[in-house]
Amino acid sequence: EKAGYDHFMLKEIHEQPRSIRDCMRGRIYPQEGMVQLGGIKEYAEKLRNADRIIIVACGTSWHAGLVGEYLIEEYARVPVGVEYASEFRYRNPIITERDIVIAISQSGETADTMAAVELAKERGATILGICNVVGSSIPRLTHGGVYTHAGPEIGVASTKAFTAQVTVLTQIALYVAQLRGTLPQSKLVELLTTLQDIPLLVEKALNCDEATRYIASEIKDATNAIFLGRGIGFPVALEGALKLKEISYIHAEGYPAAEMKHGPIALIDEEMPVVVIATQNSSYEKVISNIQEVKARKGRIIAIVTEGDTAVKGLADYVIEIPHADEAFLPLLATIPLQLLSYHTALLRGCNVDQPRNLAKSVTVE
Ligand code: F6R
Repeated sequence: EKAGYDHFMLKEIHEQPRSIRDCMRGRIYPQEGMVQLGGIKEYAEKLRNADRIIIVACGTSWHAGLVGEYLIEEYARVPVGVEYASEFRYRNPIITERDIVIAISQSGETADTMAAVELAKERGATILGICNVVGSSIPRLTHGGVYTHAGPEIGVASTKAFTAQVTVLTQIALYVAQLRGTLPQSKLVELLTTLQDIPLLVEKALNCDEATRYIASEIKDATNAIFLGRGIGFPVALEGALKLKEISYIHAEGYPAAEMKHGPIALIDEEMPVVVIATQNSSYEKVISNIQEVKARKGRIIAIVTEGDTAVKGLADYVIEIPHADEAFLPLLATIPLQLLSYHTALLRGCNVDQPRNLAKSVTVE
């Protein structure tokens, strides 16, 4: 059942080229620059006229929501708020009939996310779901939705469900952009053409197994780690930190790289691994100066870089290369080495990778 892999988590990491492809089947038409999402097309008018979109989720699904915020605001120009479901539901939130609420949940059973959906529904919002488990509770509560079709995720740490959620959010961002006319047709064609090829690039990103295993052997005795990213790389840093802490029990924090100097920089010394998302995109130069700040304090830098990079290579202690693609696709590619890094680190520390202590696959209590 593990298809020859030692753990479900490793199997699910390697399944991602396929799960991402399944998540796009019948939904994107690159040549026409068109996205079709059957489960939400009834709400096209609502999406066209929405004042804002509120995303509610927990954990890794909340990180996918942050990626969605970036993509929807960038391409569809609708304001997006991303909320922890557990905070949203207890806050007497302001919701109107012109709001769209998107609930993201792999299991479709997370108690806080369900309660947030019920609350928003009572207050008249249109509720859409992004879930993986077909027929679970959240899809039954929502007005419409888009399944991720990642297949069963057994490892407690979410991997392929996250990249499928991000794939769905990318499709929703481009669908709403198409509805609202916020992107030139040529740009839609270009982005959808790259999206279609993402499974091949993810396949390439998976080649870092050896590199991540070596880096894991170098950081396995750390007690703390920091993950830094900017822009769309920030939620990737949060997700990298969550993966590491939940399966290896190394305390890890994700930070927006520029926030480091407002506090966390005090933690940096030669013992501290600092994982930096340093790919070549709009924040590349800024990230390089953040790397220099870490280096000046003797932090050990592990950088995720674009294939062929030389500038970061000269500064970092370890680099992991991922293929080049438009910035929109950074989360789908940069998350892969972070999943593998956590996996190998946890393994070397003798941890139970598939069933970390104190965690359950779905959190049905509030
Ligand atoms: C982390 C993880 C959890 C879940 C969270 C939400 O790897 O698995 O943080 O993401 O409990 O679960 P779902 O998506 O099922 O609502």
